[in-house]
Amino acid sequence: MIPNHYVQQGDANHTATRRSYLNEQDPETRQWIEEDARYFLHQALSTPVMNVLSKAEGAYIYDMQGKKYLDLHGNGVHNIGFSNPVVTEAVKQQLENQLAFTPRRYTNRPAVQFAKKLTEMAPPGLSRVLFCPGGSEAVEMAVLLAKQVTGKWKTISFWDNYHGTTYQAATIGGTEHFMVGQGPMVPGAFHVEFPNYYRNPWGLKDKEAIDEQYLRQIEVIVERHPDIACIMGTTITSTPVVPTAYYWQRVKDICERHGALLIFDEIVCGLGRSGKLFACEHYLTPDVVVLGKSLGGGLLPFAGILTHEKYNTLQHRSIGHFTHEKSPLCSAAGLATLEYIENHEVVANAAQLGNYLKERLLELQEEFPIIGNVEGQGLHLALDLITGPVTKGRAFEEAEKILYECMKRGLSFKLIDGNVITLRPALIITRDEVDFIADTLRAAFQTLN
Ligand SMILES: Cc1ncc(COP(=O)(O)O)c(C=O)c1O
Repeated sequence: MIPNHYVQQGDANHTATRRSYLNEQDPETRQWIEEDARYFLHQALSTPVMNVLSKAEGAYIYDMQGKKYLDLHGNGVHNIGFSNPVVTEAVKQQLENQLAFTPRRYTNRPAVQFAKKLTEMAPPGLSRVLFCPGGSEAVEMAVLLAKQVTGKWKTISFWDNYHGTTYQAATIGGTEHFMVGQGPMVPGAFHVEFPNYYRNPWGLKDKEAIDEQYLRQIEVIVERHPDIACIMGTTITSTPVVPTAYYWQRVKDICERHGALLIFDEIVCGLGRSGKLFACEHYLTPDVVVLGKSLGGGLLPFAGILTHEKYNTLQHRSIGHFTHEKSPLCSAAGLATLEYIENHEVVANAAQLGNYLKERLLELQEEFPIIGNVEGQGLHLALDLITGPVTKGRAFEEAEKILYECMKRGLSFKLIDGNVITLRPALIITRDEVDFIADTLRAAFQTLN
């Protein structure tokens, strides 16, 4: 069980370590932090804040003193770097064209060009798109599509597979933090455990044997509920856990057998993060893929779903009636993002440097037994810190100490579950920057001795 002040989705903003970090900041920064806390509604994970930014550019964020941090979190929007000049230029151009918005029932060139480009770059078959402002809304659209086209209404998803904060997305996400105190959530939403090979409760080592245990949980539900509209999961979770190809193939088989759609949330693991443009390319093509975050190039909020021609059957319904559905501005950003990814071999860089970073992290694991597990794919990696190899207790305090030691040294990242150091840099980083990540972590781990 994760103690209350260590939250499932990130690091805590009420610990003694956070307080002493804040006390080290200069008076001007502290003043902005206090004002932020004065006006914003407080909530875990966002207010109060840990620091104030003055700039976000490329792979880096800068605080008020101009100190720069290589950012391994970026909230998932910085795949092609913050303030990417190509995307900035495309958005400026679109503003100068004086078409920043298109009312419903009209379209515009950037929206059509973006939709075309995305379907061309997507795995074969994913030829229809629908856009919306944010990821949670895109998740809603995916589930509504599944319900509409199957005529069924129940869902299967995974505990602690965050999909957003709107009512249905929070229900499907199955994370206690976003559900507690809300009363009944959306009915018909079943949850199963997502595979976790390192922390599987059966003590098994063989991955397929572990998969069988997790798959059984799905089988038990589908056998009793013929009205499952979809199974929805994050292709590679944010912790991250990388399921086997066998696992996702078996889930797909279950979907086909029971007439349910398979939906992959690639809001974080998509757009090159895993070393392939779409994380599903490591596995299979699902019925629906959900994208968001970096889709707006780190400049504008944009998200959407990709699906197959055969599901283009809702002419008399609306599953995504969003005001900014065909935003020319966000589409210009999205199109420039896709072109940038293509022209700068961003995905290949993520694959190569992801392998290299993983090697360096495995070396750290040899050196520091507190690193129980190194997990992930591409530039989507994490370290699971443990109190001991047998109990695999979560090393909360140590993880927090590492976080602030790294902040001091110019490296920023987010903790998940209080003890998992997540490492998701911009995909445009260099080999030297990968070395900086590994060297900084090493220096921070040394302070634990
Ligand atoms: C995997 C995943 N799905 C969905 C969402 C929700 O996206 P948004 O915050 O844009 O609503 C997030 C956001 O963190 C996410 O990480």
